[in-house]
Amino acid sequence: MALITGASAGIGAALARVHAAEGWDLILTARREAPLKALAAELSRLGAATTVLTEDLADPAAPYRLFDEIQARELSVDGLVNNAGFSRTAGFLNTDPEIHAAMIRVMLTAPIELARLFAPAMVARGYGRILNVASLAGQMPATGGDTLYGPIKGFLIKASQGLHLELRGTGVHVTALCPGYTLTEFHDVNGTRDEVSSAYPAWMWQTADHVARVGYAACEANRPKVTPGAMNNILAGLAKHLPDRLALKMVGGHAKRLKRN
Ligand SMILES: NC(=O)c1ccc[n+]([C@@H]2O[C@H](COP(=O)([O-])OP(=O)(O)OC[C@H]3O[C@@H](n4cnc5c(N)ncnc54)[C@H](OP(=O)(O)O)[C@@H]3O)[C@@H](O)[C@H]2O)c1
Repeated sequence: MALITGASAGIGAALARVHAAEGWDLILTARREAPLKALAAELSRLGAATTVLTEDLADPAAPYRLFDEIQARELSVDGLVNNAGFSRTAGFLNTDPEIHAAMIRVMLTAPIELARLFAPAMVARGYGRILNVASLAGQMPATGGDTLYGPIKGFLIKASQGLHLELRGTGVHVTALCPGYTLTEFHDVNGTRDEVSSAYPAWMWQTADHVARVGYAACEANRPKVTPGAMNNILAGLAKHLPDRLALKMVGGHAKRLKRN
């Protein structure tokens, strides 16, 4: 059974569909109950047993509540998809400290705590899958405006790679999935839909279904990191090899296009 966070929309819902198609039963979590229940009904019709547990992962107790509830229901988690996430682009000083704390909790602390809670049983059973949805942003130079987003995703990539190495040979696969621009609710939630749609042509956008399929296959193949899309891989390669001065210039252009800073 796979636990998927942020399953009420976008990449998380797409990952739930891919898992169900591959025969997994699912535990779906996010804050909004209605889209989770609608997805659960859809996946049940495909034959997947689905459980919905609503949680706000910005609450420090949420990962532990999820774990306790799953134990109480005697469900066995051998797949963990840490996908929930969001960004804010108004700039560091214009963003409430509580929002910064929530970003760190939802996209960094919660994934690590959930992995720490569920991985021991996976190792004991000799089978498990941990797929952490990071971002191309985690491989790019620092950006202004959404100042913490890239570093949080960079941390998640490195932590996933470290855990991947540690669990090699145990039957537990660990992969960081690093999507570039993906058509989901993400840019509606952070209020940048119009900016990003006019700044970036249609060919730079991928569907959530494609990203989910690439992520699932990479985790099955036990690749430590996967970045869907040739252009995204070129950008990540450039960022790795450019000196900082040039890399920051490259990203400065991106910030200007998005009218940040
Ligand atoms: N879209 C992109 O261009 C893109 C690119 C790179 C990486 N990503 C990453 O992909 C992941 C999925 O994003 P998406 O594009 O699918 O965005 P999305 O459509 O906005 O979905 C985000 C999901 O995260 C959940 N979520 C947000 N805050 C939460 C909280 N406090 N507690 C629990 N769940 C929470 C949302 O559910 P509720 O609102 O119901 O809680 C929703 O299910 C994120 O980690 C994002 O950083 C996205």
